[in-house]
Amino acid sequence: MLLLGVESSCDETSAAVVENGSRVLALYTRTQTEIHRRFQGVVPEIASRAHTEAITPVVHEALRRAGVRPADLDGVAVTSRPGLSGSLMVGFNFAKGFAAAANLPYAAVDHILAHAYAVQLEQPLPYPYVVLLLSGGHSVIGISRSALEFQVVGTTIDDACGEAFDKVAAFLGLGYPGGPAIERLAAGGNPRAFLFPRPRLHRANDRYDLSYSGLKTAVVHQLESFRHRNAPVTPANIAASFQRVAIELAIDRLENVCTDFELRRIGVGGGVAANAYLRERLLQLPDHEVVLPRLEYCVDNAAMVAGIGYHVLTTHGPSSFADGVSSRVQEFRHR
Ligand code: KG4
Ligand code: ZN
Repeated sequence: MLLLGVESSCDETSAAVVENGSRVLALYTRTQTEIHRRFQGVVPEIASRAHTEAITPVVHEALRRAGVRPADLDGVAVTSRPGLSGSLMVGFNFAKGFAAAANLPYAAVDHILAHAYAVQLEQPLPYPYVVLLLSGGHSVIGISRSALEFQVVGTTIDDACGEAFDKVAAFLGLGYPGGPAIERLAAGGNPRAFLFPRPRLHRANDRYDLSYSGLKTAVVHQLESFRHRNAPVTPANIAASFQRVAIELAIDRLENVCTDFELRRIGVGGGVAANAYLRERLLQLPDHEVVLPRLEYCVDNAAMVAGIGYHVLTTHGPSSFADGVSSRVQEFRHR
């Protein structure tokens, strides 16, 4: 079964052709990073407009690279939630129009489920496994029990992990996106120069949930105290110490989930998965099997959408053309 996947939930316009939920024939992604850089974050109105301009050429390019015509396809899969409403609508309406014109069934898919599924692309990983998903928009730790069963166990109670990297980078004057800039600067710093505090969460949340706003504030206070005293700022040490605490926090929660649910397979996703310090720390976890997919499958991409779409179509059948998008996360959180 050959599916076209379409993704436009945030600031990546992406299209892919995937066979039977796993073999990626083509993936083509156009990112808007350059457009949003001067605003140091994604501006929703501008994102929607850029998706509108990109969607047709991006889909054409994915089909061209796959060597596939619309008539060769068996269906279309598209992200319908969660994300920025205006952004979601562009890909969603395009995909529905494409499916209707080509007389194909379409599947509306959940973006978080798609991220959790991304580790299955090309090399299947046996279920169940724990998913650590850290990006600029979401920070989720959950358990994939099958393609369509994902149990959210922990989430951030405030900022997403990548968002914290972006905000700290902005305070350090490093530009946007902040993650790669912090990582580069941190490489020359001492990760133990500053003992930034770990969040103290309400008892019910303290084993699985994440929180980054306190850490961000601690970094800002540290910078202000340097400036106040006219002391030389040591950005590399600040970046390295921030990065250590941000990553250790996520790994600590991940280990709690693995221990409590007696699971040892871990799949990683989201843009922060590019972080070498995170990768190194994950691979050091004793007795765990860690799968780090190719980066193009970790960040927002349409291959994961076409992948999960195969399971949605074969299990539930086509989605209704009357359905719309939703900016909200699906309620699949259980404790
Ligand atoms: O998944 P993604 O490409 O897009 C969405 O958030 O939707 O993730 C982007 C986020 C940004 O916040 C960026 O700063 C962060 O991932 N990021 C990193 C690194 N590369 C990207 N964070 C830490 N270290 C990195 N090397
Ligand atoms: Zn995402």
